[in-house]
Formats: sequence, structure tokens, C-alpha cells
Amino acid sequence: MEIIKVKDYQGLSEKACQIIIDQIKGQKNPVLGLATGSTPEGLYQQLINAFRRGEVSFQQAKTFNLDEYVGLPGSHSNSYRFYMQEKLFNHIDVPGNQTYLPHGNATDLEKECHQYEQLIRDAGNIDLQVLGLGLNGHIGFNEPGTAFDSKTHIVDLDMTTRKANARFFSSLDEVPEKAITMGIGTIMECKKIMLLVSGEKKAEAVNRLINGTVTEEFPGSILQKHENVVLIADEGALSTL
Ligand code: GLP
Repeated sequence: MEIIKVKDYQGLSEKACQIIIDQIKGQKNPVLGLATGSTPEGLYQQLINAFRRGEVSFQQAKTFNLDEYVGLPGSHSNSYRFYMQEKLFNHIDVPGNQTYLPHGNATDLEKECHQYEQLIRDAGNIDLQVLGLGLNGHIGFNEPGTAFDSKTHIVDLDMTTRKANARFFSSLDEVPEKAITMGIGTIMECKKIMLLVSGEKKAEAVNRLINGTVTEEFPGSILQKHENVVLIADEGALSTL
């Protein structure tokens, strides 16, 4: 695992932006894997800025997001589709039909999972996947105990995850109990992974991810086995290393 230490969140966002731009410029039809949460927000703002300066175009790119809440339509302000539209897609030139997220309100959720997995295969797999890290080691919404060979599936969210994400909702009760997520197997098939971790509250988790035992009890630990991972972390996140 390559570790890039940056000073702070701004540095993390700028470095991550540069890696994505390099990926897009180095390829004809890049397939990007995207993530939600607070951590990539700065990256998306940097990408928008670079697009406005004419430094990058997303016209040939396809994007696949890691996960989506079950039960929320894309128009709901807490859905990850809505987040992506607001934080990135509405401000760049990626064609709407080239951005994919699982449909959290699909009537047949199992079918939706299979179809999502198939769409990723049909696109030739993800070239560069952006990942964040949950406090309990989750990647995407793969909670502790998820099989390492899992594909896109439906998950019951941990109470810790629901509490951590409750800040985006008006109350904990409103946070969905289920989500659709790419599986750990799906993530491991991405050709390159860029993991972003910021702040002291993630320090213990990032330490365990890098130095801990590889175990399904801490999903992010599997990244030790991936051949092409770059971890971009700030001083706070690396403070216990
Ligand atoms: C959510 C997302 C994850 C994300 C994690 C960390 O649970 N499903 O993909 O990595 O939160 O989020 P944050 O960056 O806000 O700490």
C-alpha cells in the first residue's frame, strides 16, 4: 500500500483531485468509482474547480458509486444520488446516462444488485475507486462480518454507522436501516483504489487497517491484499501510526 501523508484536509482533497485528473487524462474511457460521506466533499469541489478552469473533462468517463440507502428515491435529499448530483454531477460535464448508483427504491432489490454488478462488468470494471473508511472499518457499506468475496448486496446497517450518519438526517429514526452496497469482492476487483482518510477520529481505524490482522471483522483490512492501493491521509488520521 502506498501511503501519501498530507498536512490537512485541503492537502488531501488536492492530492486526490490530481490523481483523478491523471487517471482521466491517461485513458480514453475511464471508469471511476465514487464514494459519499464527508471525506470526498473537498475532492469533488476541487474537481469542479479544475473543470471550470478547463483542466479536465468528464465527457468520456463513466462513474459508479459504492452504495445507496434502501427506500430513498434519488430525489430524496438524503439519498446518495442526490448527494452526487449536488456535490459533483450538476457542476461538471459528465453525461447523465454515464453516472450510476444503485437504485435504493427498486421494487426487486436482489435483481437490482445483480444488475448493478453486471453494469460494472459491462463497463470493463472500475479503473479507479475512491474509498472512505467507516469508524468500524466499513468500506462502502460493508459492515464488520461481511464476506470478503461478497458482490453487490443488501446490508443491514450497524447502529454505529446509522448514528455516525444521523448528522445528515433530522433524527436517528430517519436514517434507513438498510442499504445496497458494492461487495468487498467487487471493490477488490477495482484496478486501483484511492482511500481517503482525514482527522484524528479515524486514527485508530486507519492504524488497524494498515497494521492489523486481515479479518472480516474489520472490512478495510482486506485492502492490505490489494496490489494497487494508495492511501491519502492527513496528519490527524496518521497520528497513532
Ligand atoms: C458512509 C459511506 C461510506 C463512507 C463512510 C465514511 O457510511 N457509506 O462509503 O466511507 O460513511 O464517511 P465519512 O467520510 O463521512 O467519515
